[in-house]
Amino acid sequence: MIKILVTGGAGFIGSHTVVELVNGGFQPVIVDNFCNSHRSVIGNLEEITKQQLIVYDVDCTDELAMRQIVTEHPDLQGAIHFAAYKAVGESVRFPHKYYHNNINSLLVLTRVMDAFGIRNLVFSSSCTVYGQPDQLPVSEETPYQLAESPYGYTKQICERILQDLVRGEGNTISSVLLRYFNPIGAHPSGLIGELPLGVPENLIPYITQTAAGLREQLTVFGTDYSTPDGTCVRDYIHVVDLAKAHVKALQWMADRPVGCESFNLGTGRGNSVLEVLHTFEEVSGEKLNYVLGDRRPGDVEQIYASSEKANQTLGWKTELHLADALKDAWNWQLKLETHTSSK
Ligand code: UFG
Repeated sequence: MIKILVTGGAGFIGSHTVVELVNGGFQPVIVDNFCNSHRSVIGNLEEITKQQLIVYDVDCTDELAMRQIVTEHPDLQGAIHFAAYKAVGESVRFPHKYYHNNINSLLVLTRVMDAFGIRNLVFSSSCTVYGQPDQLPVSEETPYQLAESPYGYTKQICERILQDLVRGEGNTISSVLLRYFNPIGAHPSGLIGELPLGVPENLIPYITQTAAGLREQLTVFGTDYSTPDGTCVRDYIHVVDLAKAHVKALQWMADRPVGCESFNLGTGRGNSVLEVLHTFEEVSGEKLNYVLGDRRPGDVEQIYASSEKANQTLGWKTELHLADALKDAWNWQLKLETHTSSK
C-alpha cells in the first residue's frame, strides 16, 4: 500500500479525502492538531473505512515533530497538505495568525519532504486566488486578481512558493495545486461532514443550522448583483467528488515528473444563493426562514469553473449534483449531535 501523509486529515475536505484514499488502496498517515476539527472524526472515519488509522496530534508548523513523523514512516511516498486556517472574515481580523500558520506549515512540510526524499505534494488551494475574474467560466490560465483577504493572499503565496520551488536549484518536489470552488455536502453515511465552530460563515452550514432550529434566520447577502435573480453565483461542488480528485492527482503524479501544475475543481455550473435555498427546501422538505439583506463586504459577484483540464488530464469529473450535496449536508446536520456527543 502506498503511504501518503495527510495534513489536516481530520478537517472537512481532509476527512473525506482520507476515505477516498483508503478506497483507492492508499494508506493515509493523518497529521492534525484538531484546532478546527472534532476528535470524534477519527472514530467515525474508522467506522467508514473499517480500519484503524494512523493519526498524529501535531501542529504542522512544528518542524521537529514533523521530522519525527516522517522518520517513523520512511515509506511515505507523497503528501496532501490541507492543514490551514480557512475563514475569510477571521483572516481579516487576525492576519498574523493566517500568515504564520498557512505559510509556515507549507515551508516546514516542503523542507521535511525535501530532506526525506518525498517527491509528490498535492496542495489544497482555492478559487479565491482568481478574485472576481473578468471572464467566466474560469480556466487555470485566468490571471490572479489582487487577493480580497489575508486568507486568499496566503493561498496565492503558497501557490507561488510551490511554483518557485520547482524552478529552484536541486529541487526534488513536484506539486499539484487543486483550486477548489465551493465545497459542500457530507459523506452519504452521515458520519463525517462540515463542523464549523461557532456561528458559521458559509452558506450551507448556515442553511442546515437554520433548518434545524439552531439559528433563527438566514440572511441572503445582496439581491442587486448583475446575476439572473440578483444574488451571488457560485460553483458548489460535492465534497466527495472533490475528495476523489486528490486520489486522481496522486495517481497521475506517480507516473511522471509534473513540476508544478494547477487544476480547477468545480462542476462548471453556477448556482445563485436563492437557487441553493430553494433546492434545499425541495430536498429536505423544510421551509427555510430567510430574509433578503445587504451585500456582504468582499463577496465576488459570480464565479464558476472550467474543470476541463482536470477532466482531460486527471480523468476526473464530478458525478454528484447540488441536490445530492444538500441532501447529504442535511442528513449530516440531523445526525450531528449523536456523532459528536457520543465519542
Ligand atoms: N451567503 C449568504 N448568507 C449567508 C452565508 C453566505 O447569502 O449566511 C452567500 C454569500 O454572500 C455568497 C454565497 O452565499 O454569495 C456563498 O458564500 P460562502 O461563505 O458559503 O462561500 P464563499 O463563496 O464566500 O467562500 C468560499 C470559501 C472560501 C473561499 C471562497 C473563494 O468558503 O474558503 O469561496 O471565493 F475562499
